[in-house]
Amino acid sequence: MHWCGTRGEVAVGTGGRWYGCWFLASSSCPAPCPRSTHTKGEWQVKTITFTVNGNPVTLDVSEDANLLSVLNDDLELAGAKEGCGAGECGACTVIVDGVAVTSCLYPACEADGRVVETVEGLVLESGSLHPLQRTFVDYGAVQCGFCTPGMVMSAKALLDKYPNPNEQEVKVALAGNICRCTGYTQIVEAVLAAAEEMKK
Ligand code: FES
Ligand code: FES
Repeated sequence: MHWCGTRGEVAVGTGGRWYGCWFLASSSCPAPCPRSTHTKGEWQVKTITFTVNGNPVTLDVSEDANLLSVLNDDLELAGAKEGCGAGECGACTVIVDGVAVTSCLYPACEADGRVVETVEGLVLESGSLHPLQRTFVDYGAVQCGFCTPGMVMSAKALLDKYPNPNEQEVKVALAGNICRCTGYTQIVEAVLAAAEEMKK
């Protein structure tokens, strides 16, 4: 199975999370990338421009590349993690145009023209931790930390849209993020505390 890098079809999961689109073979894709210029194996290579944490980026990506690999390997932003690589754990969550997405499923060429936020961009201009980062530490919501960047970015996407969430809304926003070692109670408490902090 190959991931499709075009805008042909997009599946949107519950809670607005973007889970990606795919076709069993590239030849079945109804909408090839219009700006494809050359090939890498069977895949077209496309030049894309997007913004990462406020910085403009232009680079060539293969249509089968996912956003996670571009962030980790091409841009050396290691915050988003590959856990399952299949859209099930949320460790790779970043924000694209204000929506939390699983970047392991998000075609890199789909990021063309969009605004991408990763956990590296959360540190405030003063150098201080973002309130979400600080409350995750204060509330003991981090143990091994592997899930934490994804958790924090899902929480940020929620608070950016809904600055005053209740406990249930936080749980729904984090439903796609799995933690294998910290109790979810501390994580939810940390997000609610950050929401309070951000009102001050
Ligand atoms: S690595 Fe993307 S959802 Fe698990
Ligand atoms: S802190 Fe270890 S997986 Fe969440």
